[in-house]
Amino acid sequence: MRIGILGTGAMASALGGAWVRAGHEVLVGGRDPGAARQLAAAIGASEGGGEPAEAARFGEAVLVAVPADAAVPVIAPLAAELAGRTLLDCTVPMVPGERGPCLTTVVTADSVAARLAATAPAARVAKVFGICHESIWTLPRPAFEGVPLGVPYCADDPAAAALVAELVASMGCLPVPCGGLDRAGLLEAAAVFAIGVWWSGGEARGVFPSPALAPGAADDSDAPGATGDSAEAQRA
Ligand SMILES: NC(=O)c1ccc[n+]([C@@H]2O[C@H](COP(=O)([O-])OP(=O)(O)OC[C@H]3O[C@@H](n4cnc5c(N)ncnc54)[C@H](OP(=O)(O)O)[C@@H]3O)[C@@H](O)[C@H]2O)c1
Repeated sequence: MRIGILGTGAMASALGGAWVRAGHEVLVGGRDPGAARQLAAAIGASEGGGEPAEAARFGEAVLVAVPADAAVPVIAPLAAELAGRTLLDCTVPMVPGERGPCLTTVVTADSVAARLAATAPAARVAKVFGICHESIWTLPRPAFEGVPLGVPYCADDPAAAALVAELVASMGCLPVPCGGLDRAGLLEAAAVFAIGVWWSGGEARGVFPSPALAPGAADDSDAPGATGDSAEAQRA
């Protein structure tokens, strides 16, 4: 897969490095083209690049790895270049608060992802890679207690959803489809919520039981990590 990256910070480096290791072609662009070429050299990405427009044009997928409040201004001048490409939005609209991190959007149908889709209407936006800290993507194949890391994503476009699933699987992780872009705000809020749990020292990993233990959910006891035991059996 050919993937352009917009941004030269921690996520650009971690995800870009993971994609190079997985055999993808990566090209980096940023507001500082020198920093973009430096990052590309550091992670073994394609030579050249530097300018955001080059990264936007480069491949079938383009990662937006800038602060959430910079995402729309960064994407707006690139809307034409992004036509037909899958825009991977890993932004988390979050600011620190006295009692933990706070969401900077209002969770309705609004989200950074929805705003990007309105800004670049011909792009196929997917919300993905926002939950985990960048350090997770530096692990060779993220897995915990033998279970590959699940990566939730939201996308409206079936081709974008298929691309994300393929990309996530190529990194040794489990794609977890979570609906369309109208649910991206929930995913962004979930990231802020999980970060709050981690920052307060809580064990976020134990928060979500397997689908077999979720009353009313589809029986998915064959899913990796599921015990196959019903909640009733667990209680007995
Ligand atoms: N770090 C994580 O663990 C993590 C995890 C999940 C999601 N995320 C999300 O991923 C995104 C990137 O995070 P990060 O940790 O990679 O941030 P970062 O290390 O601070 O890097 C941010 C990048 O965005 C660029 N940038 C900042 N403001 C910009 C603007 N107004 N216009 C154009 N470019 C701008 C920076 O350029 P300069 O270097 O020139 O300032 C830098 O290249 C954020 O939305 C964050 O919420 C982060």
